Amino acid sequence: MGDNESGIVTASAPGKIILFGEHAVVYGRPAIAVPVFQVRAEATIQQRAGNVQIDAADIARRYDLRDAPPDDPIATMVTRTCARLGVAPRDFAISIHSTIPVARGLGSGAAVSVAIGRALAKFYATEDTESTERGKSRSNSVSPVPSVAALSVEEISALAYEVEKLHHGTPSGIDNTVIAYEQPVYFVRDQPIESFRVARPFLIAIADTGVAAPTKIAVGYVRRAWQADRARYEALFDQIGAIARNARAAIERGDVDALGPLLNANQTLAREIGVSSLEIETLVDAALRAGARGAKLSGAGRGGNVIVLVDEGNREEIARALMEAGARRVIVTRVS
Ligand code: MEV
Repeated sequence: MGDNESGIVTASAPGKIILFGEHAVVYGRPAIAVPVFQVRAEATIQQRAGNVQIDAADIARRYDLRDAPPDDPIATMVTRTCARLGVAPRDFAISIHSTIPVARGLGSGAAVSVAIGRALAKFYATEDTESTERGKSRSNSVSPVPSVAALSVEEISALAYEVEKLHHGTPSGIDNTVIAYEQPVYFVRDQPIESFRVARPFLIAIADTGVAAPTKIAVGYVRRAWQADRARYEALFDQIGAIARNARAAIERGDVDALGPLLNANQTLAREIGVSSLEIETLVDAALRAGARGAKLSGAGRGGNVIVLVDEGNREEIARALMEAGARRVIVTRVS
């Protein structure tokens, strides 16, 4: 079955950053996100008789699927994916490992969900192709698994989106989309996914403030502020949306020089909508002083990661400046 003959399958999913447009994307404006392959979430499924056991070692949790609270994201993804596949969740153990830091704007929740969806699709798809004949030779204690088809990328993304709703009530869907499709996306809520051409690759340094900031809190704050002053927030979201549109055009024509000022303009607006923080501002400032062309928060803000446009020539120097200013770690990703 699956990756090898011992009934074990593994699947993984990358992290992500939002280059332009976070928060405004929740309110229907466009945003741009890209996958980050240096960090990944991984799900391993092992055939084993009985109730489903979940092992989330990174967060020191080991539990039975039946005992999970209704809003448990891992259990929800397992249950919903199995329902979509038309199988009863039983006779396997699932373990999750992730190198994506939690609540840092890198899409850890969505990546875990996508990895689980992929692993389950693989686990049961292999059952399908290997048919019931092999099932007969298995231990009697393991119930036969009905034939199922593998899930499409779109289906896995949709399942992960349902789980995203548990993390925060009004997700735009950008995180699950960029992570499931593993390519740059120009995303507008409730519209077909658009990928786009990166005419000239560019480098982004991702610097961790070290502050965990759950998406739910920042998104909830913005919602309350929007409810209190819709005209002002709608105008801010319009400006952020215009930046995302301009950034897409710049990326498509290979105009990397235009991206720095657009990142800075987006950061100014993020500050105005109330999702920046002292730690974010400190890292943005350090990057710009060290010669970066642009920098901004990425994801929900209030902590998490800062992204910085760097060049081959200055990436080391800027990474050093970010670490000296308090970054917990810096990784550099190539957008191409
Ligand atoms: C989170 O990565 C991005 C936000 O815009 C929320 C969302 O789009 O669901 C803050």
